[in-house]
Amino acid sequence: MSRPRTVLAIETSCDETAAAVLREFGDVVAHEIFSQAQIHSAFGGVVPEVASRNHLESLPFVVGRVLDKIRPGDLDAVAATTGPGLATALLVGAAAAKGIAIGAGVPFLAVNHIEGHLLSPFFGGEEIPAHIALVVSGGHTLLFDVEGFGKYNLLGRTRDDAAGEAFDKVAKLLGLGYPGGAEIDRLARGGDPGRFDFPRGMLDSGDFQFSFSGLKTSVRIFLEKGFPERDLPDICASFQRAVVDVLVAKTFRAAQAQNRNIISISGGVSTNACLRESAEQAAEKNRVSLRFAPDGLRTDNALMIAYAAAHHLAAGHSHPCDTDIRPNFDPASICS
Ligand code: KG4
Ligand code: ZN
Repeated sequence: MSRPRTVLAIETSCDETAAAVLREFGDVVAHEIFSQAQIHSAFGGVVPEVASRNHLESLPFVVGRVLDKIRPGDLDAVAATTGPGLATALLVGAAAAKGIAIGAGVPFLAVNHIEGHLLSPFFGGEEIPAHIALVVSGGHTLLFDVEGFGKYNLLGRTRDDAAGEAFDKVAKLLGLGYPGGAEIDRLARGGDPGRFDFPRGMLDSGDFQFSFSGLKTSVRIFLEKGFPERDLPDICASFQRAVVDVLVAKTFRAAQAQNRNIISISGGVSTNACLRESAEQAAEKNRVSLRFAPDGLRTDNALMIAYAAAHHLAAGHSHPCDTDIRPNFDPASICS
């Protein structure tokens, strides 16, 4: 049998500086994340130039730590996220990865960040089954019909705010800091999701598109009237329920329409307790198998990029070192 393939992956698309070394599809050799969240929270959101300067400062340390776990010559490929994401942030990771690939004399792999999230629920496995994939992160809300690795058909996406963006904007309105999704989730656990009736945008639009900006505006108008502090858990729970109702309804309708019996949910928002619980109930009712990414692989990380890279490597792919970054999400770049 041939030697197991080892990939170094670098992820710098937003405010996490991450690197990982993965052997084959699931043997984690090393995995490091330096989160800049605290740095950006002072600004109430991610500041692109601050992010890229911090990537530049942290990356040698983060990459050095994971490379310490292997011997020179062990690497079979070096991957980096080349988009979508913040242009100046992507450039740092992509340039570093290309340099290491050239130095090591191994192929460079340009990995799409969305593909990293999309595949993460199957981490460790060699096969990607046909399924419906919901990717819900701070920057994206995307619903795909997946036939297998590399065969993704975009069914729908958000027309305005991403689900995570709605969480973060509502958290900001509530004075909960940045990023506030996890804090809303925490507060909502003690709240009544049926107390306030916030709109379920595009729930019955008859397609697989999403919209969350109307919900955010509705919460803003509601809050402008003033509210007692004790209502905070009920507001968080009611807002969260409105987001989750739409995500779950449309994802399960897509599974029915495409005749799929597996659903995956990935990205930072897939950590949300209400989303997980509601999806689990729907899965049981609809006899669908539900997959989430393992802990630590839901918010941005380099292991999911390494895992996607392992699939590319196994498929015989490699990308030239003059491959440019692609900051915007272009469905054509990953859809077959
Ligand atoms: O996947 P991710 O790390 O970044 C992007 O690719 O955008 O997702 C980050 C997003 C943020 O909007 C954050 O507020 C949200 O995921 N998030 C959550 C939870 N944990 C993280 N949203 C709701 N509930 C959570 N528990
Ligand atoms: Zn992400």
